[in-house]
Amino acid sequence: MNKLAVARSFDRAAASYDQAAHLQRRVADRLLEALPAQGGAVESVVDLGTGTGYCLPILQQTLQPKVLTALDLSPAMLRRAQLRCPEVRLVQADLENLPFAAASQDWLVSSLAVQWLTTAEHFLVEAQRVLRPGGRLLFATLGPDTLKELRWAWTQIDDHPHVNTFFKEDEWHLGAQSAGLRVLRHEQEPVTLYYHQPAQLLSELKQLGASHVEGRQGGVSPLAFRRMLGHYQRRFGSEQGCPAHWQVSYWMMQA
Ligand SMILES: C[S@@+](CC[C@H](N)C(=O)[O-])C[C@H]1O[C@@H](n2cnc3c(N)ncnc32)[C@H](O)[C@@H]1O
Repeated sequence: MNKLAVARSFDRAAASYDQAAHLQRRVADRLLEALPAQGGAVESVVDLGTGTGYCLPILQQTLQPKVLTALDLSPAMLRRAQLRCPEVRLVQADLENLPFAAASQDWLVSSLAVQWLTTAEHFLVEAQRVLRPGGRLLFATLGPDTLKELRWAWTQIDDHPHVNTFFKEDEWHLGAQSAGLRVLRHEQEPVTLYYHQPAQLLSELKQLGASHVEGRQGGVSPLAFRRMLGHYQRRFGSEQGCPAHWQVSYWMMQA
């Protein structure tokens, strides 16, 4: 994964992200329901891929850590997160190379950020390294069926990648096993959102900063783009609108 391109894409989207983040809000709310009602003696918590920091106030209230850290690749996203939660410690870094000492964190929480990684295993090894024994990793991510309609519509135009691929459930299980993390919980939630036109989905992905596609070569002509939208509309359009499928999965792991 080209991390510089991912960071630039999210930098550009920092100002528009919150207005477009309907699914992201719903996923974060469900993810955070898994937090314990009482934080107990929690020293340090990190929100990995914090974006505009939606999860931070909830993490602060529920876990009440002595140190709450917001980590992201994108400096513009981190500035937004600080506006939402001024007392947070900001760290600009890559999830696959965490700048924390071994056994230094009690909770690592991440909502819809780990799908931008190169491998699931590398991240899980890093998470296991920085968690204290017994510490928890709680995250939400997307599975391979996500945006399957858009993926299909592009295959009608050419063979190039136009939609990112997402890790399979097995990759998370195997990654956890080789990292030495115990899977405590795993749930799947299929979500379908409807759009008047497929172009609205594409514009929303851009507003969210989710438009970087690994391996995409060059641009797409306006004609090819319009033809792809036509295929999408004709194949999937219904009275409800054009569907976009999201395969959301929730994980809780323990070091
Ligand atoms: C879809 S946003 C989710 C933001 C937030 N967690 C939420 O629920 O609204 C994904 C965030 O992950 C960050 N991100 C993507 N890849 C990353 C990486 N390798 N390391 C750190 N942050 C990353 C992006 O910059 C972006 O802010």
